[in-house]
Amino acid sequence: MKTFFFILISLFMVTMTVTIVATPHSTRTSDIFISADDGQPLADSVMNIVKNACMDCHADGGNGMASSRVNFSKWTTYNADKQASKANAICKELTKRGMPPKKFCESHPDAVPTQAQVTTICNWAKALNK
Ligand code: HEC
Repeated sequence: MKTFFFILISLFMVTMTVTIVATPHSTRTSDIFISADDGQPLADSVMNIVKNACMDCHADGGNGMASSRVNFSKWTTYNADKQASKANAICKELTKRGMPPKKFCESHPDAVPTQAQVTTICNWAKALNK
């Protein structure tokens, strides 16, 4: 009888674990823009992150080379296709921790994006690339 209960409890725990693991994490879609032909302004959730972590360089008055690649001050002048491909590049850089540059992160530890912020950026990039 004891063995029977042990097996029953084990089965129950396995089922619960599988259910928890297999349930997709809910994603917040409220502040993600759907792409149109014209470029969209940055969602606040994204703007707050790039303002803190990227715009020292990637903005008017920042680093010339950086803003020739991505300039967040000029984001709304990019059309939807350009925004989508830049957003992809941004997600990629953040995921592999290529940006912000290492030296900048060392001198600005508060600017280093958190894992949650990287996820926000990549969800935004995904939505722009639908
Ligand atoms: C200290 C300055 C600095 C900061 C801060 C910085 N970058 Fe950069 N970034 C650069 C420079 C310089 C380049 C150009 C490097 C090169 O091409 O060799 C660049 C290039 C890039 C590129 C490549 C563009 C392309 O078209 O492939 C992306 C994407 C990028 N940065 C995203 C970001 C993001 C996102 C952040 C914030 C999380 C960030 N950067 C923060 C300096 C910076």
